[in-house]
Amino acid sequence: MESPGWERLQSPVSSGRRSEAGFNATISNCPMPIAKTEVQSVLLNAQTIKRRVRSLGKEITRDYNGRSPILIGVLRGAAVFLSDLIRHINLELEVDFIALSSYGSATETSGQVQLVKDLESSIDGRDVILVEDIVDTGLTLNYLVSNLKTRNPASLSVCVLLSKPSRRKVEINIDYLGFEVPDSFVVGYGLDFDQQFRNLPYIGVLEG
Ligand code: IMP
Ligand code: MG
Repeated sequence: MESPGWERLQSPVSSGRRSEAGFNATISNCPMPIAKTEVQSVLLNAQTIKRRVRSLGKEITRDYNGRSPILIGVLRGAAVFLSDLIRHINLELEVDFIALSSYGSATETSGQVQLVKDLESSIDGRDVILVEDIVDTGLTLNYLVSNLKTRNPASLSVCVLLSKPSRRKVEINIDYLGFEVPDSFVVGYGLDFDQQFRNLPYIGVLEG
């Protein structure tokens, strides 16, 4: 297994213990761990992610030359990706966030999504880039794209770090894609399982 970079970049987190396999999330005040989930393998290491995010930033810089887009991050998963991405975009830009709640199991959305935090800015007449962590079934992005289109943006493009094409239930047009990933549940670099693992500097596959 490639070094996850955890040793170099992070110190141990109090709510969990590290194991050789990766980050071992347990509930700290509980004498007997009731849930133990570990990262099984590193899918994309920090260096690989960094290189790809830099090149996505360059592409966006080139495509939006002369314009001032507004990047909309989908909370909470896209926060890490968005914050790295904007530092590779050499344009005047704005950032806003939107948050959805979705019903479903721990690892799958049902498609019944609800807006829990709306944008602070109007996107009327603006060039909008929607930034999401991962497209799985596509139901979440499908909802968001339709919702944002009703607000009359000048343009709307979609930038996604990860895509699991084999899981798609609705077609999504992705303008900027970081990586295609296999059908496994992945965590790290903003992506969570039960709100854990967002702070990993790499993207790993959870043991299942
Ligand atoms: P979709 O609506 O099925 O496309 O699901 C998209 C949302 O589900 C993403 O924004 C993530 O929050 C979550 N999700 C889907 N797959 C994963 C995964 O492998 N790891 C972490 N979150 C995921
Ligand atoms: Mg999400």
